[in-house]
Amino acid sequence: MTHVLAIDQGTTSSRAIVFDEALQVKAVGQEEFAQHFPASGCVEHAPEDIWSTTAGTCREALERAGLGPSDIAAIGITNQRETTLVWERATGRPIHRAIVWQDRRTADFCRRLREEGCEALVAERTGLRLDPYFSATKLAWILDHVEGARARAKAGALMFGTVDTYLIWKLTGGAAHVTDATNAARTMLYDIHRGCWDEDLLKLLDIPAAMLPEVRDSAAAFGMTRADLFGRPIPILGVAGDQQAATVGQACFRPGMLKSTYGTGCFALLNTGEKPVTSQNRLLTTIAYQLGGKPTYALEGSIFIAGAVVQWLRDGLKIIREASETQGLAEVADPASSLYMVPAFTGLGAPWWDAECRGAIYGITRATGPAELARAALESVAYQTRDLFDAMRGDWKGSAETVLRVDGGMSASDWSMQFLADMLGAPVDRPVVKETTALGAAFLAAMQAGLCPGPEEFAQSWALERRFQPEMSAQTREARHAGWRDAVRRTLVRPA
Ligand code: G3P
Repeated sequence: MTHVLAIDQGTTSSRAIVFDEALQVKAVGQEEFAQHFPASGCVEHAPEDIWSTTAGTCREALERAGLGPSDIAAIGITNQRETTLVWERATGRPIHRAIVWQDRRTADFCRRLREEGCEALVAERTGLRLDPYFSATKLAWILDHVEGARARAKAGALMFGTVDTYLIWKLTGGAAHVTDATNAARTMLYDIHRGCWDEDLLKLLDIPAAMLPEVRDSAAAFGMTRADLFGRPIPILGVAGDQQAATVGQACFRPGMLKSTYGTGCFALLNTGEKPVTSQNRLLTTIAYQLGGKPTYALEGSIFIAGAVVQWLRDGLKIIREASETQGLAEVADPASSLYMVPAFTGLGAPWWDAECRGAIYGITRATGPAELARAALESVAYQTRDLFDAMRGDWKGSAETVLRVDGGMSASDWSMQFLADMLGAPVDRPVVKETTALGAAFLAAMQAGLCPGPEEFAQSWALERRFQPEMSAQTREARHAGWRDAVRRTLVRPA
């Protein structure tokens, strides 16, 4: 029993990765699942898809690794955060599709709450902004829109969970209704200072406490899997939201360390240590990980669309067949083109927080073609990261490493990472192990299982694959970035 199975349940696919005793990847199972867009700004997942792709990819990864259940010492779970599920306690039947973190249906509700002056309470208790991004208003929406839901929730018949909670519930056959502090911190219902669900916020949104899961450390005993799932019960010993797991996987354990993960969206987290830092620049304060009952805090910048813009080039515009083609196109794009793409498909996140604006492209000429569009799409991700980087520099007064550790799908593109380093004016480090999110979850579970030592030793094993140094002149960098800021300014519906 020396291996760990990491489940990485993401926004567009479920993945399961088997790690060996040295935390090296042994085998991977992956399956995409359907995205449902019932109306503009609405994004849903079928809970059955979340579950069946998770269970299926676990079996696939074990098979590929040539391992049986007796080889697996523990399971670690990492997941798309904020996505909201409600199901029946008695039957496990979901009462609505999962409302995905990108979903903006509660934008009006959030605006009304802001107008009523509730934003300060939310920020003070949760470190978040009053935005539809987080679980709380999605949960309230389900309770308001599914007939009889609130009354049933009050009677204790319904359960709420983020994806980690739902998966643990399914994996344990309904024996455990739990989450970890990093996932709880994304609900907009959790007091990140006192470490508990916040009664005032629950009251404000009329959410019954009875439907909330119990909150544990990120490395803890979360429950045992049903015996029939894998042939024997396996303990679930590590849980963290995917961006927090990536922070762990990137070994950002010291205050001032910074990582950025390029998945569907892009999320930059700066470790701020034992003390939460309140942002003056519209970033979030969140929990990076919680070990031994002690939270380590982070400043987070959340960008909603990163890899998804490449997906749109593929599935929407159909100008590429594979994501990897964008790099070749970007390389041959007209250098004189000053096309800016603002991928506000579901509004803009940090530091703009405008749920109502939508995507825009500026500077189209007759010379604009697929290559220029592809380059503008890749560049938009770097520009957005630069905005976060600037905000973090403004907020963080501690010792700062001006190196950004990157991971996730888009980090594989050398062109994108070079442009990122150019735009930041700072080095960008890409690690050898690209599966940092799953690695983080595997490490938490392995540590809890006693298979590996603590964070310091784990940090020693982090290895650099390539460092991208900035090459662009400061003048060009600032001119390009100013063009981006202008494009954003023209896109915002509700400027700050
Ligand atoms: O907050 C949303 C985030 O957890 C989603 O991550 O990797 O699915 O883009 P990802």
